[in-house]
Amino acid sequence: MTLSRILALGVAVGALAQSGAALAQQAPAIDMAAAEARAAATVKQMTADEKVVLTHGIMPLPGFPGATPPADAIPGAGYVPGIARLGVPALKETDASLGVSWVMGLRKDGATALPSGLAQAATWNPDVLYRGGATIGSEARAKGFNVLLAGGVNLMRDPRNGRTFEYLAEDPLLSGVLVGAAIRGVQSNHIISTIKHFALNGQETGRKYVDVKIGEPAARESDLLAFQIGIEQGQPASVMCAYNRVHGKQACDSDWLLNKVLKQSWGWKGFVMSDWGAVPSVEAALNGLDQQSGEQLDPAVFFGDKLKDKAASDPAYAARLDDMNKRILTAIYAAGIDKNPATPGGAIDVQKGALVAEEAAKQGIVLLRNKGNALPMAKTAKSIAVIGGFADTGVLSGAGSSQVHGEGGPAATRSLGGDGPFAALMSQQYHRSVPLKAIKALAPNATVTFRDGRYITDAVEKARQADVAIVFANEWRMEGADQPDLSLPDGQDALIAAVAAANPNTIVVLQTGGPVMMPWLDKTAAVIEAWYPGARGGEAIASVLFGDTNPGGRLPVTFPASLDQLPRPKLDGSDWVEPNFAGDAAPGKDQLHADYDIEGSDVGYRWFARKGQKALFPFGYGLSYTSFASSGLKVAGLKASFSVSNTGKVAGDDVAQVYLVSRNGETRQRLVGFQRVSLAAGASQKVSVTIDPRLLADWKDGSWTMPAGDYAFALGRNAEDLGPQVKVRMAAKTWK
Ligand code: BGC
Repeated sequence: MTLSRILALGVAVGALAQSGAALAQQAPAIDMAAAEARAAATVKQMTADEKVVLTHGIMPLPGFPGATPPADAIPGAGYVPGIARLGVPALKETDASLGVSWVMGLRKDGATALPSGLAQAATWNPDVLYRGGATIGSEARAKGFNVLLAGGVNLMRDPRNGRTFEYLAEDPLLSGVLVGAAIRGVQSNHIISTIKHFALNGQETGRKYVDVKIGEPAARESDLLAFQIGIEQGQPASVMCAYNRVHGKQACDSDWLLNKVLKQSWGWKGFVMSDWGAVPSVEAALNGLDQQSGEQLDPAVFFGDKLKDKAASDPAYAARLDDMNKRILTAIYAAGIDKNPATPGGAIDVQKGALVAEEAAKQGIVLLRNKGNALPMAKTAKSIAVIGGFADTGVLSGAGSSQVHGEGGPAATRSLGGDGPFAALMSQQYHRSVPLKAIKALAPNATVTFRDGRYITDAVEKARQADVAIVFANEWRMEGADQPDLSLPDGQDALIAAVAAANPNTIVVLQTGGPVMMPWLDKTAAVIEAWYPGARGGEAIASVLFGDTNPGGRLPVTFPASLDQLPRPKLDGSDWVEPNFAGDAAPGKDQLHADYDIEGSDVGYRWFARKGQKALFPFGYGLSYTSFASSGLKVAGLKASFSVSNTGKVAGDDVAQVYLVSRNGETRQRLVGFQRVSLAAGASQKVSVTIDPRLLADWKDGSWTMPAGDYAFALGRNAEDLGPQVKVRMAAKTWK
């Protein structure tokens, strides 16, 4: 039985897209199938030389060794020439995980810096992701780009992963639904979006060679399911394959991932582009790779003359080459980048972008602790000491290819890259949004002092003199390196502990790229997680602190209580692979393995449930300035319905979460539905979500299989706080 048949039994396929919030205003996904016929006709007209034009491209950076960018190239991540004779445009690619990226200052234009992926995911609101994607897409068009390297959806298998901030969550449903919405937003601008990095790219340590071991069922039920849902809902025209190896093969050269799973099993029609410097040989073409990106970074240009020669003598290569062209052209036609050309030099609407970023930041801030309702702060507060975290300067961002510069560049940069070639990339950058100013604006009658926190005694003195102390604590992450542990760096734990000891009314504002430990937690009055909050992060933080925004964000990842709770207490390779980009070329590469069979598909909260472990803060967790009650869960077929009420005194947003908790008596936790709801004080709302049956099933012998029996569901305040169980009898089903 097919998935659509299964769904037809209880619900319409379209309703699947509604597992999150209402997606009403979203543009329809692009139609890949319709573009295919046109693509096939173009391929028929191509000469042998033309067939190896779209299959490879350069990194068009002036002065970058290996290729001189042509006149029409825009400094960015990639450039693939077009074929004017056939009306095929050049592909102009930019990184765009969190905004149109900055490419080490080679372009001087600014762009909207959205909050980090985790911040956006903490909204649990697909509409926020859609608006973010639409904003990036429209700014990219104005700069002349037509392909966005966006859509990062690798699951958080290890909270130390340096790119956690770019990705979304640890759960396949939440990740898949959200990335799908972001991609639809990007592609609503006649721009190609990717989804990346396919697949199982779970750590940065040794990222170009770490070999992942995982059985197919576990992969299908976790990381691959996130991609599958994201592809179904977003229909990205391109997939970017990953750096790492899987079962000994590089992901961009993996017949299993690219041919068997993505193209054959899922029937996906777009093209696979490589990550930059991830192509080992021309044979990758036979294994499913369609385009070699950033070719100067590979050992050779494999998909140019070498591929042409192979195609001239080997029918398997010739057939693949036609298919590669057909797929790239399908993407071009489906996104409509030939008929709607993006031309450089357009203006971007900075104010509009800033509002999108601010709304995302507000919706994504998570209130972690609020002892005695310390928050929201009274606007009549008399004296406030703001301490640390460059709160007088700007808000933190994560580094790497996703780094965005707002107008005027960063407010401050702290270089951590020495004098090496990657120094510009390895720098902590602060966006121009100043929390201190925003706090002062909302507390006009207070005396607000600032101390940078370098000297603990001085900070403690100021905290002691004030009614309230607000400590900003930052944890910076970057692409290319993982965190050695989950502590706050630079002595900030000691600073917070000392300030909290001096003033019981201490509020901690975290700007982190992922989970961190909080040894001082019990001593504080309140803690908010603001992630990397983007272009208007300061304003969003102040708005939450003073209650103009009632926080409704929920953790999209588990915050562990200790590293011992993780499937891999020690991150593979962390003791011998050099961090940062230097590690890309480490000797002894073949020795680096990551065994994902330890947790299998039980990533994040599922692992914690399996082990009976209590997290520091569980997946789905987040407090509010009001209170909510969810009740009346009914599950009929694949539809779960219930009601949510705001039982407190102020309006606020709740995120209703429905979990599968057991199957035939065996513990088996899965998020199966969620919806963010806005409720006035005292109001109630009926909610219904459609359950994707893959979340109830096992991947077994090439099919999804649901055994007959009792399935128990519960509403959850979070993954650890579950309400009464509702048992439903389900029939056995098997489908592809
Ligand atoms: C990153 C990709 C990025 C590409 C181009 C790679 O190092 O892994 O996410 O899109 O560079 O900048």
